[in-house]
Order: sequence, then C-alpha cells, then structure tokens
Amino acid sequence: MKARIQNIRSLSATIKHITLAPDAEDSFPAGAAGAFILLEIPGPGRVWKNAYSLVSGAGRRQYEIIVRRVAQSRGGSAWLHDHAEPGQLLEISGPANLFPIARAAQKHLLLSAGIGITPFLSYLPVLQRQNAAFELHHCCKLDEQEVFRPLLPKAPNITLHGSRNSLDLMTLLSAQKLNTHLYVCGPEAFMDVTIAAAKRIGWPDAKIHEESFGGATGGASFIVKLARSAMELHVAEDQTLLEALEDAGLAPPRMCRGGACGVCELPVLGGLPDHHDHYLSAAARAAGKSIMTCVSRAKTPELVLDF
Ligand code: FES
Repeated sequence: MKARIQNIRSLSATIKHITLAPDAEDSFPAGAAGAFILLEIPGPGRVWKNAYSLVSGAGRRQYEIIVRRVAQSRGGSAWLHDHAEPGQLLEISGPANLFPIARAAQKHLLLSAGIGITPFLSYLPVLQRQNAAFELHHCCKLDEQEVFRPLLPKAPNITLHGSRNSLDLMTLLSAQKLNTHLYVCGPEAFMDVTIAAAKRIGWPDAKIHEESFGGATGGASFIVKLARSAMELHVAEDQTLLEALEDAGLAPPRMCRGGACGVCELPVLGGLPDHHDHYLSAAARAAGKSIMTCVSRAKTPELVLDF
C-alpha cells in the first residue's frame, strides 16, 4: 500500500524518527506490539526492501519508525537519511509480527542493544497498560543514551546501560523466576551472546524470543546456481541472495528479510553457506544443507540451490 512521509525528525546524526500516513485510506491496518513493516526504498536502478519495527503501538492513523543510518548501508537507510522528505510517497507492506508479547508469560525480560530498542517501544505501553511484570535493559553507547532516554518512560524497571559489558547477563538471567520470557533484539553479536548465555543456563527455546535488526550488510560477491530453474546468477557485493533471485524475475519465498522468520529458507545442494540468520539451529548451520537467502551469503565462490 502507499504511505506518505508525514514528518522526519533527527534524533541524532545517525538516527531519524519517521512518521508515515496513509495516502488514500483513512487508516492503516493495525499492528500489534512487536510488528514490523517493509518499506520499498527507491535507489539508482533498484529498490531496497527494508523491515522496520513500528514504534507507534496500535495507532492506525500513522505508522512511526526509527531508522539508524547503517555504517555499511547498502543504500536503504542511507536513502532514508539523505533523500527522504515529507510529502514523498513510499510503497509499504502491511504490518507483520514475528515478535509478539507472549501471553502466557508471568514476567517479561526485555534486552536490547542499539537500535534494537525499537520493537520494545511498542511493547512498553501495552505492558504498562496490562500492569504486567517486566524489566527492560537497554545497552547503548554513552553518547546515544540521550537519544534513547527521552523515548523511554522513567521507571525503576527500565535501565540504560552504557555498554554491553556493564550488563551482567548471567546474574540477570539466573535471577529470573520460572515462566519469565526473554525477548532479545539488537545487533547480531549482542543477540548471539545473550541467547547463548540464556541457553547455557537452561532457558528453554520456547521462552526465548528474538528479533534481528542486523539485516543484510553485503559482502563478497558469489555465483548462485539454481538447479531446478537451470539459472546461474551473480550476487553482487551490495546485493543479498534474495534480491538477486528477485531481480532475476523469480518469486522466492520471503517475509521478514531480517533472518528471523525462516520463510526464505532454501535447500543447499553445493557450496558452503555463510549463515547470518537467527533461525537455523547450530546443528542445521553446521550441516550447511539450507540457507536463509535474505541475510546469508556464501563462503565458497559458488552455491548451488535446489530452487
Ligand atoms: S525472510 Fe525471514 S528469515 Fe529470510
């Protein structure tokens, strides 16, 4: 659907708050806490499709997102920072939600780093309205605390940490009662460390929820051979495998574009995948028999996919 950029506000040199309004309709579809939308971002000769969490709760008159300019941006976040202006029309998807609040939880432990705070901004009004037991720990650089602090309610159960090292993960995770659910969102390294720590002390998978915000950052180019389609494609340095498939006119499965939902998984027949997703288990990664095309690349010059 079409959305018009209504307002752009700089929160820092690298973080912008963007408000979108419906173009033709009166309202957008409602998005529950944790939902994201896809923005189609125009670039020279191509269109980027980036996922952003809705930070505006269940409001339907407008969608609000927060966009960090990614240092090694392939183009999407850079365009939103450098070229987006109020009044412009963008194509967006309706909200999807891979990171909802778990209804069965007796307590919610929210851990985020950097721009990973964004899904929790839609959680907070809901948890507070429900009078739910929760703790939020957000890790960010000292100079970004002033960006994030005004976005968060002042409450004893909401803590900003100046770095990831100042959050004592093991103590925090070990102190939680049974039936606490853990939610993790942030850069790949933060998520890997946090989830590994939780699993090491016995948190069951069913009580760990994650949302990845690393997205795809590009990498070395490689060739992908499609066994069923009898095609051979070049995946450029600034292109994802999923984008290469789409640009070739194919319709590969996809949803979140962030390595979280598992929808884009394709079987690997040859070559070694370079996994960047948060969906496959450690055993599945090691086996190398499938790949998440939205974020993962190749360790070998060629990959052969059953597609
Ligand atoms: S589209 Fe969701 S993991 Fe790739």
